Amino acid sequence: MKVSIASDHAGYELKDKIVEYLKIKKIEVIDRGPEINEPVDYPDFAFKVVQDIMAANANRGVLICGTGQGMAMAANKKPGIRAALCYNDQVTKLAREHNDANILTLGARVIDQTTAISLVDTFLNTHFEGSRHKDRIKKIG
Ligand code: RB5
Repeated sequence: MKVSIASDHAGYELKDKIVEYLKIKKIEVIDRGPEINEPVDYPDFAFKVVQDIMAANANRGVLICGTGQGMAMAANKKPGIRAALCYNDQVTKLAREHNDANILTLGARVIDQTTAISLVDTFLNTHFEGSRHKDRIKKIG
């Protein structure tokens, strides 16, 4: 499993925590920035992670902004990307089981760090159920 991760300024601190956590868990991480905490535009960083998924440089992506909304909106513009804005365990589990989400988006201003780490765990450890859900996600394009 290889994870590509990025944030904007609002998600900067949480990104660092998640990167640290993934490294402890021995999960390979591509940290796409930002490298310093200063105001940036979230689409620029969303597209770095999108590029990793589209080029198969990473299996999954994590994008963090203030609410998770802007990152999800930007990422979902690109073909083959299914970015899910998640805020609890059930939504995260279903985003994998039913929607085969390949990017998790998180809102650093609306969930705490412990919750965020737990959602990353669920996102990385839950399998897609396939079958009828496969036909449905095919229709998304
Ligand atoms: C930045 O202030 C904020 O707008 C951004 O992090 C994000 O929440 C946008 O969706």
